[in-house]
Amino acid sequence: MSQLDLSSDQLLSTTRAVRKRLDFDRPVDDDLIRECVAMAMQSPSGSNTMTMQFVVVTDPAKRAAIGEIYGKCFDIYRTMDGVYAGSLQRETAEGQAQQDRVTDSAEYLAAHMADAPALVIACTKTGRLDGVPAMSAASSMGNVLPAMWSFMLAARARGLGTCWTTVGLMMEEQIADVVGIPFDSVQQAVLSPLAYTKGTDFKTAMRPDPDTIIHWNTWSS
Ligand SMILES: Cc1cc2nc3c(=O)[nH]c(=O)nc-3n(C[C@H](O)[C@H](O)[C@H](O)COP(=O)(O)O)c2cc1C
Repeated sequence: MSQLDLSSDQLLSTTRAVRKRLDFDRPVDDDLIRECVAMAMQSPSGSNTMTMQFVVVTDPAKRAAIGEIYGKCFDIYRTMDGVYAGSLQRETAEGQAQQDRVTDSAEYLAAHMADAPALVIACTKTGRLDGVPAMSAASSMGNVLPAMWSFMLAARARGLGTCWTTVGLMMEEQIADVVGIPFDSVQQAVLSPLAYTKGTDFKTAMRPDPDTIIHWNTWSS
């Protein structure tokens, strides 16, 4: 598959959370998804254990079931003041406008998750994280999160859109049941729709100046 003509910096700075620009009508070939997973597998893992797993859901009935669960989770999330994107206030008008766009877009995805031709669940076969020490938790998640981001970058390079979501983890076991993930030994980390994007031009996002988040030698508040 030919790839978009993007420099590495363009790829890194324009891989956005795509929701309203997912093309639900265009099928995605399995081999293209394989290519993205192959790229994801080049990511690092603790002791080179490669415990990351990708559950790719294309079956319409299973997508519908997961979409319904995601929608229920989003209903709960919507009540979580101070966490729900729609309840977060930004300091500038520009920042607030961006926040409002995120909320509107996230609401759209909550209503349409099942419509994506594929849903991708990134997991790690390192057992459940509930109550485990920081080193184990960081190692487990560290085995899957870079892989998923690489998957998303590889997808973007191929004209596909993704959106990192975690709201569905509120009902992780129900999602596990839909696709037979062994809940006791496999921790889900991210659920993403996967679809071609409507157009391939995405912008660099507004972000804070690096100096506001770098602490040179000593933590500064
Ligand atoms: C840890 C994490 C959890 C997220 N969870 C959700 C989610 O559950 N639903 C959703 O629509 N977007 C979710 N997002 C996407 C963010 O809203 C998005 O990355 C953010 O608004 C910035 O937009 P951008 O990625 O296009 O720059 C999540 C992103 C991250 C990194």
